[in-house]
Amino acid sequence: MQDPHIYQAAEIICSVKRVTAFTGAGISAESGIPPFRGPNGLWSRYDSSVLDIHHFYQDPVRSWSTIKKIFYENFQAAIPNAAHLALSDMEAHGHIHAVITQNIDNLHQKAGSRVVIEYHGNSQRLICRKCGRLYPVTEELLLDLPPLCPNCHQVLKPDFVFFGEPIPVKAHQNALRETRASDVWLVIGTTGEVFPAASLPLEAKSRGKKIIEINIEPSSYTPQITDIFLQGTAASVMSELNSWIRKIDVLHAG
Ligand code: APR
Repeated sequence: MQDPHIYQAAEIICSVKRVTAFTGAGISAESGIPPFRGPNGLWSRYDSSVLDIHHFYQDPVRSWSTIKKIFYENFQAAIPNAAHLALSDMEAHGHIHAVITQNIDNLHQKAGSRVVIEYHGNSQRLICRKCGRLYPVTEELLLDLPPLCPNCHQVLKPDFVFFGEPIPVKAHQNALRETRASDVWLVIGTTGEVFPAASLPLEAKSRGKKIIEINIEPSSYTPQITDIFLQGTAASVMSELNSWIRKIDVLHAG
């Protein structure tokens, strides 16, 4: 066992009724998707204004050519890693009620998680903001940029939250419900710097919930609200955490 706190965290998870996971870019790092911030982050290589909603509609061709490169060429082949799989396994065994993710990469869904609250939307759908229709991404739709709505010929936008856009109401409401209803929040791979998403674990903590955090380094949450900090990569810590949970389940069953 690398860290005795992992066993402690597993015992807590097995002893409560409801656990919510809250994930950020760090959980997908080992699937080959770089985080946004930090020295190798996306925003050190690309101009983040391509994801500014006003910029997008002013110059959709320029925005779309960068967006296509980042989200639909580089990351399209990414597959879930051991951390995504551990969360879906925990859900299947009744230890995770919901995953709230800030990620738009669809990897929790690919890993088999069923209750996924897409706080920032999902890159695998395009939306027409005029008629509201949604389209699954296809290579064909992205051949000529910008993609246009087959129904009303307006520019299609990835169905994820751009800078300057509000959080989808239903996702926000569902996430707030988790801050009230869950006993434990598992906060994985996020800096806690982007609001309003970052306020969710703070809200859970203010309601007396336990915060178990997994990150390769302390985040802004760690000194403020974290009860148990498990330092390490999401894939290694989550695999070990899940294997302890399975052992505790067997002990309880016996
Ligand atoms: N395992 C665990 N944590 C990791 C790993 C890893 N392998 N690699 C990196 N991390 C941690 C980093 O230490 C950092 O705390 O993941 C976090 C990634 O931080 P950000 O790139 O800022 O990602 P996130 O917090 O999810 O960003 C929030 O910002 O631009 C917006 O909408 C975008 O959803 C995104 C939001």
